[in-house]
Amino acid sequence: MQGGEVEEALQDRIARAQAQMRTTDVNLMVLSLGSNLKYLTGFSDEPGERLLLLLVPREGDPVFLVPELYEDQVRRASRIGNLRVWKDEDDPRTLLGQTIASLGVGKGDVAVDDSMWATFLLELQTVLPKATFSGASRILVPLRMEKSASEVRAMEEAGAIADQAFEEILTHKVSGTSELELARVLQDSMLAHGADAVAFETLIASGPNSALPHHRAGRRTIAPGDVVILDYGCRVRGYCSDVSRTVVCQTASDEIRQVHAIVQEAQEEAVRKVKPGVEAEAVDRAARAVISQAGYGERFVHRTGHGIGLDVHEPPYIVKGNHLKLREGMTFSVEPGIYLRRDWGIRIEDVVVVTDTGARPMTRSTHEQRVVQ
Ligand code: CO
Repeated sequence: MQGGEVEEALQDRIARAQAQMRTTDVNLMVLSLGSNLKYLTGFSDEPGERLLLLLVPREGDPVFLVPELYEDQVRRASRIGNLRVWKDEDDPRTLLGQTIASLGVGKGDVAVDDSMWATFLLELQTVLPKATFSGASRILVPLRMEKSASEVRAMEEAGAIADQAFEEILTHKVSGTSELELARVLQDSMLAHGADAVAFETLIASGPNSALPHHRAGRRTIAPGDVVILDYGCRVRGYCSDVSRTVVCQTASDEIRQVHAIVQEAQEEAVRKVKPGVEAEAVDRAARAVISQAGYGERFVHRTGHGIGLDVHEPPYIVKGNHLKLREGMTFSVEPGIYLRRDWGIRIEDVVVVTDTGARPMTRSTHEQRVVQ
C-alpha cells in the first residue's frame, strides 16, 4: 500500500467502526496498545505500563491520549491529529477524566479493548462510574475478519517467505541438531527472505515431543527415525503467516507413513470444503471425518483451525459449534493433527483465504512427507 492508500484505509476503518458502534448502541470505544489499535491507527508497540489510549466516540473525531515519548511516533504512524499528551511526571488520570468529560460520553455502554490491562480498565471504571462496560471485539471482529486485498497481499508475502524457509530446512543437516538450533535456522531464514519479524516463537517438536501439539523448541537433539513437526510463521507489514509441516529424520516406520497420509487427506479434504456460505464447523467436520474413519478420532485433540491476520489467533475459529458462515476475504488455518501419546504426532497446516469459489492457500510447500538428513 502507498502512503495515501494507507491513510484512506485507516479513515475508512474508523468510519466503519463508528457505524458499528451506532448500530450496537455503544457510546465510546477505548483501545490500548495491541492489534485493534494497530488496525484503526497504524500505530503499535508492545503493551506497557504507561497510559496510552485511543478514545473513539460514536460520532466525531477520535482522541489519542499519549505519553510524551510516543508523541512523534504516533503522529508519524497515524492520521489522528487530536492528541492529548502527558509527561512521565504527570498523573494521567486527571487528563483522562478531562478528555472523557470533553467527549460528553459519561453514561451508556463503553466498549474496551478485550486485551486491555486490568489496571487501565480499573482507571476507566473510576472515571466513568455510570457507564457499563463490554468488549470491543463485537465492534471490531466483524471488520477485521474480512481482509482487504492489501491485507491479503501482506499475508501472502508472509506465506511465501515461510515456504522459502521450508526449502532451506530440507537441505539442512537435521540429525544431531537441537530443536532450538533448528528453530533459529528457520527464523534466520525468514528474516533473510524479507520478514519483518517472526509471528510467534517457532515450534519444533521432535520425537516424543511431537505428540504434544504446543511443545516449544527445547534442548532435545534430533536423531534418525524421529518425526519432526515444524510450526512457524513470520510477519510482513504486521500480518502473520502460520504453517506446519511434519518431516522425518532419515527413515520413517510404516505407521508414520500411514498416519501422515491420513492427516494429509484430512487437511486437503477440509480445504476443499471451504467456500462462501459454508459454516465454519463444517470445515472442522470434514477434517475430523477422515481422521475418525481411519480410527484416530480420539487422537485429534484440537480444533481444525483459527483465524489469522494482525494476530496469530483471532476469529473465526474453525471448531464444532461455530455456525458462522464463511465469507470472501476471511483468512484462517486448516491444521488437523494426530497425536499418539508418548510416541509421536503429525500435523499439516496451511492458512487459506476464502475466495468467491473456494479457498486459496497462502503456503504452497508440498504436503507429501519429506525426509531430512
Ligand atoms: Co496455527
